Amino acid sequence: PGLNELAKKNFKAKRLSFTTNISDAIKKSNIIFICVGTPTKKNSYAADLSQIFTVAKIISKNIKSHKIIVNKSTVPVTTGDKVENIISKKISKKLFSVVSNPEFLREGEAIRDFIYPDRIVIGTSNKKINNILKSLYAPLISKGAKYVNTSRRGAELIKYSSNAFLATKISYINELANLCEKTGVDIKDVSFGMGLDQRIGDRFLRAGPAYGGSCFPKDTRAIVDTANNFKTNLSIVKSVIKSNDQRKLLLTKRVEKILKGKIKNKNITFLGVTFKPNTDDMRESSSLIMIPFLNKLGSKIRYYDPSGEKKEFKHLKNVKFCKNIKMACYDSDLVIIHTEWEEFKAIDFSKILNKKNAKIYDLRNLYSPNLIKNKGFKYYSIGRWVFYFISKMASISTAAPKGKEFVLTAALACLPEFPNKFEIISEAGLITLGWS
Ligand code: UGA
Repeated sequence: PGLNELAKKNFKAKRLSFTTNISDAIKKSNIIFICVGTPTKKNSYAADLSQIFTVAKIISKNIKSHKIIVNKSTVPVTTGDKVENIISKKISKKLFSVVSNPEFLREGEAIRDFIYPDRIVIGTSNKKINNILKSLYAPLISKGAKYVNTSRRGAELIKYSSNAFLATKISYINELANLCEKTGVDIKDVSFGMGLDQRIGDRFLRAGPAYGGSCFPKDTRAIVDTANNFKTNLSIVKSVIKSNDQRKLLLTKRVEKILKGKIKNKNITFLGVTFKPNTDDMRESSSLIMIPFLNKLGSKIRYYDPSGEKKEFKHLKNVKFCKNIKMACYDSDLVIIHTEWEEFKAIDFSKILNKKNAKIYDLRNLYSPNLIKNKGFKYYSIGRWVFYFISKMASISTAAPKGKEFVLTAALACLPEFPNKFEIISEAGLITLGWS
């Protein structure tokens, strides 16, 4: 968001121009940024660097005077060396310098992240080049961004290590959310309490569906692959990848439990399908696993996403895009809040859910369980008390016939916010609890 306006403004002011004439563009530039994609190779963990190497070859054919070649793309450590080798096959090393300058922008927040970065990392051992780049970034440094000059390989590794660490933080809190659901603790309290420790920090501790997007999944795999090439075992990152993959299925299984195993012909609504808000990006979104899985089990899925219909679901029978929240929720048995778009944060469900027993599964913890339950809906979320009794009930249910009512007067004293009768889902099926 905001990029159109920014590009137009600077284009009009003649600070920005576009061309498809690459030799002309290279000729007129002192600094050349490489900003191409580095997706995961097919059937591999490795990053596909073909676009980087193609650009390097093109640059090598067009250099006539000294150029600083800055790699912004996310690349495995030592890629800068390879780019330098490619270019030096055609051009003397005196005529160019290859620098690593990773970006730390988030999709949907890129402009803000660019203007107010935490740090600017420049990987070069050449002092003169470092000074030129420092002056290029001077406006951001003067606003408080920290400037880090390191080796080229160091800068490349900082990028991957940062993404892998953030992914680890998310998977960590997601696994703790599973524990919270079984122990009656609110994951938001845990995140808050942990985050106050400045050594931990409060960001990227929001539990939710599995992390997605083009970056964390791709970069965690690529750093593992790079480490393997250097005969180093990144066992923690490997576990994060596994944990994140398993989470998508775990949540789908929970949907089955919420619907008491009766998925066939159930109307399920997805609010949001992208991997995060403010983007139309579907890459590695958990909805890509959840929707086809539930669809295969015979449910009828309607989804609404502010970024529009998705080609990924067009071939699926009984998966329909709706133009607004209301249409998507009409006749729904279960609404799954998958992505935390702004417009999903204050929905009056009593106005849009017409089915009496409609349920809400909030994968982003946007709502207060008590408030929404007071409106008469069954509400499930991530890492909060709704699943509190799962493990306990599993043992009770083996001792008592299904459907029988239990009187838990003790629980009432501990959990006064509970209504006096409610249903919970256990491993063994539905249990109705009641007390007086
Ligand atoms: C990520 C990094 O945050 C950026 O710093 C980096 O520059 C970028 O990758 C990149 O390498 O290009 P991005 O993938 O755009 O940015 O999005 P994030 O905001 O990091 O979210 C990634 C995923 O993690 C999303 O699915 C999001 O829902 C999830 N997430 C994030 C959580 O589940 N909990 C959190 O607390 C934060």
